[in-house]
Amino acid sequence: MSDKIAVYPGSYDPLTNGHIDIIERGLKIFDRITVAALKNPSKTYLLSLDERLEIIRETFAQNNRIEVDYFEGLLVDYLNKRKITTVVRGLRAISDFDIEFQMALINRSIAPQIETIFFVPSVAYSFLSSKLVKEIYLLGGEIKQMVPDIVDKKLKQKFKQESLSISQI
Ligand code: PNS
Repeated sequence: MSDKIAVYPGSYDPLTNGHIDIIERGLKIFDRITVAALKNPSKTYLLSLDERLEIIRETFAQNNRIEVDYFEGLLVDYLNKRKITTVVRGLRAISDFDIEFQMALINRSIAPQIETIFFVPSVAYSFLSSKLVKEIYLLGGEIKQMVPDIVDKKLKQKFKQESLSISQI
């Protein structure tokens, strides 16, 4: 039987322990997961695509069931190109539901073969988002227990080098 593969798409600006939790849950069901970071030239990211990918690669370097990739344009086009029909997403709270429901149905309306599977994260991460992580580091706080070490280092370095305001993250 062939491997069960899913794509876990996202911005990963930056990867958090909440994403890692979803990936670990996904690996209970799927043989392999492709973590695919979006490259959107019209969006401002704190971390460059290379930085986002490097963080994900380093975090999962020891796990040969995780592939790291990026995509540009429509997710369904990327899935079709890769011949993968399953998308994994995390559902943290009721507030996620609306947008996730829309995304899943839009993707299905463009490409009916695509199924989206939602995983519920650990309660410890159910309030966590990349945006909040950036805001906390920008304001001089740290939440080491919520991000991989490499992200902690990278964000401290980033905010030391560049004087950014909240509107820029
Ligand atoms: O981590 P995020 O920002 O919640 O991830 C959102 C993402 C990247 C999964 C979503 O914006 C996406 O798939 N964008 C690609 C463009 C696309 O396919 N749009 C139509 C469906 S929403």
